[in-house]
Amino acid sequence: MAENPLRLKSIHHVEFWVGNARQAAYYYRQAFGFSQFAYAGLETGRRDAASYALEQGKARIVLTTPYGPESPINDHVRLHGDGVRDICFHVDDADAAFAEAVARGADAASEPADRTDEQGTVRHAAIAAYGHTIHSFVSHTDYRGPFLPGYVVKEAPGRDAGLLRIDHMVGNVELGRMNHWADWYSRVLGFSRYISFDDKDISTEYSALMSVVMSDDSFAIKFPINEPAPGRKKSQIEEYLDFYRGPGVQHLALLTSDIISTVTTLRANGVEFLTVPGSYYDALEARVGRIDEALDTIRQLGLLVDRDEEGYLLQLFTKPVEDRPTLFFEIIQRKGSRGFGKGNFKALFESIEREQALRGNL
Ligand code: FE2
Repeated sequence: MAENPLRLKSIHHVEFWVGNARQAAYYYRQAFGFSQFAYAGLETGRRDAASYALEQGKARIVLTTPYGPESPINDHVRLHGDGVRDICFHVDDADAAFAEAVARGADAASEPADRTDEQGTVRHAAIAAYGHTIHSFVSHTDYRGPFLPGYVVKEAPGRDAGLLRIDHMVGNVELGRMNHWADWYSRVLGFSRYISFDDKDISTEYSALMSVVMSDDSFAIKFPINEPAPGRKKSQIEEYLDFYRGPGVQHLALLTSDIISTVTTLRANGVEFLTVPGSYYDALEARVGRIDEALDTIRQLGLLVDRDEEGYLLQLFTKPVEDRPTLFFEIIQRKGSRGFGKGNFKALFESIEREQALRGNL
């Protein structure tokens, strides 16, 4: 039964803890087309860390770097490299969301508290999710600032690529822990199992994974959770877990309404994508039937297409966006399909395995 016990409204933002937020902000502006709209740091009176808030469409990301070794953010960066720390929800009432989550078995990460500046006050609280990832809750009624207390307006435009919002965010967890975390999202956040994929759907000659997609009642917030499955060689999920040193966010999928234009821009901006062999395109029309887009363009841009009973989708995956083979991005356009591109798994995972082999990690 659909329910929303924590009264989640939307993903407020996703915060990354990184080694050099200033440079990361430049990368996400110039490569991915986010625009910076707010900033907090020494110049604004914040002494512990600098944060850059960027947005594109409704997708908001925050990049944060500590100023000194005493900050706990360093432990995260030392262990995980650059990665997602917080998937923050906008809620009706942060106190109520936190109390309900803890009553449902979540571990507290941060007790409810006011965050205040001259522009007003927001309530903030957080619970622990997989690994060192947290979900924070933010509620406010009349906050007037550009983002959150402590931030000031500091704009720097990006090369907009037409990305609209976060479509889904995927977590990688250890072997045997997928169902634990699926149950956690169901028990604590009231999410339901939307689709699952087993190792028969997602296996190649060498490596495999299992996945379950958890969704809120409106299907606006979707969190697939992956775990490695035993294969002849190392699963891509294991490679992630080895290099992230534990569970964490594997990829953010960003929605566009025109993937041809979006990927053309991203490629021109220097974003690097995974590639599939030409044989994928030779077999494409037989597999997915007629689509609105020209097959030549699809092939040229290296896009992936999949069809299900409801329609089709176009998608493309970047290479990891940091030196550790951990976090990457997906660009997705949905034309009726609410799926995740199951028909592309084989070609995609073979592509990932080629990259893994180049890294000596297969
Ligand atoms: Fe995805």
